[in-house]
Amino acid sequence: MSKLNKLGYIFSTNCNCKNVLKETFKKSNDEIVQELIDSGLKGRGGAGFPVGLKWKIAAEQQSDEKYVICNADEGEPGTFKDKEILVKVPKKVLAGMAMCARVIGAKQGYIYLRSEYIYLVNDLNTVIDEFHNDLKELGIDFNIKIFMGSGAYICGEETALIESMEGKRGEPRNKPPFPVQIGYLGKPTVVNNVETLVGTMIVARIGVEAYKELGTKDQRGSKLFSVSGDSPKEGVHELELGMSVSNFVLEYGDGDTKAVQIGGVAGFCVPRKRFKETIIGEGNTTGGSTMLFNSTRSMYNVIHNYLDFYAEESCGQCTPCRVGCQQLLKGIEAVKAKKKPEKYLNQLLKLAETMRVSSKCGLGQSVTNSFTSIVNNFREEMIY
Ligand SMILES: Cc1cc2nc3c(=O)[nH]c(=O)nc-3n(C[C@H](O)[C@H](O)[C@H](O)COP(=O)(O)O)c2cc1C
Ligand code: SF4
Repeated sequence: MSKLNKLGYIFSTNCNCKNVLKETFKKSNDEIVQELIDSGLKGRGGAGFPVGLKWKIAAEQQSDEKYVICNADEGEPGTFKDKEILVKVPKKVLAGMAMCARVIGAKQGYIYLRSEYIYLVNDLNTVIDEFHNDLKELGIDFNIKIFMGSGAYICGEETALIESMEGKRGEPRNKPPFPVQIGYLGKPTVVNNVETLVGTMIVARIGVEAYKELGTKDQRGSKLFSVSGDSPKEGVHELELGMSVSNFVLEYGDGDTKAVQIGGVAGFCVPRKRFKETIIGEGNTTGGSTMLFNSTRSMYNVIHNYLDFYAEESCGQCTPCRVGCQQLLKGIEAVKAKKKPEKYLNQLLKLAETMRVSSKCGLGQSVTNSFTSIVNNFREEMIY
């Protein structure tokens, strides 16, 4: 499958969440987990971890308390899909949380909401109240509360998110242990992205076999893409996974696309010459931000902008990331200003690779994705 296929599962309003939950709860926890594993659904927050497996590990932990956290921090530049879900189909998210709670044995759930989305709180609380009534009727003891983020990109990383919920500085923890083992308040915790939770409801509603029909062998299902940049069709689009970048550009480009950033700043920049061979979601990323750049854009400005963001958002806990982000930024500025020779870029590429292998969390580890793909493919723009 490399063609582009538009779908409408995520925002469809013909899903009666209460009924889907009622039917699902007739199954045992093991059956629900097995169906999720068989469906091939992977997390939509960026790391792409299999959802069924995450829930299974959390369910197996012995603990008096467990938690479900919906990660709605959505700080990746160019991503605005989770907000759209929370506005249009919030009940599906809550239902996915309730399903997870039943499977792992949690009584309390939290939505960790990006601080800029504070204007959604009143409407969300109304839906949560309604949902609590639905759960009462279904005989489910599960409560959901909103926890407001404070505007730091790093707090989207699941362990930094948990630290911040515990009232500490938002800094990633060492892993292992993973949150499913030791998470919020030291208890087993499932952290899932907003869209992932809706994915679990889609599997429950349409069934494993129908879900497996969608996407490719490695990437099942549909996915929301936040499309921005030089596109006449900016916005959130649900697509079947497995299309080539060239088909994506045909649909969303402006006829002059020279590069597409897939997976946000943590992802890769695909140049025109690789559009055909690059399949979105295959070996690259499950993040939803896709930014299109046409020939009027300076890729030096693009990578400068990303590095500026990284240098600002690095939590500073580990040296490779704290110092590396700043040195990459200063480095490309020096080459551009002819204070350093072009070959200095090779040293910067090595530094980015060092950051990949030695940084503590996904922020520092992923800088190399966009840095290397932009510097290697648009080297001439880094110099003149
Ligand atoms: C710097 C950084 C920021 C992140 N921001 C988010 C975010 O805003 N939302 C999200 O769902 N996951 C984010 N993640 C990924 C989470 O750590 C985690 O993998 C995800 O919430 C797990 O959910 P999933 O399995 O449903 O994808 C981020 C990771 C890193 C390293
Ligand atoms: S990689 Fe960066 S963001 Fe992550 S812990 Fe290290 S300094 Fe903090």
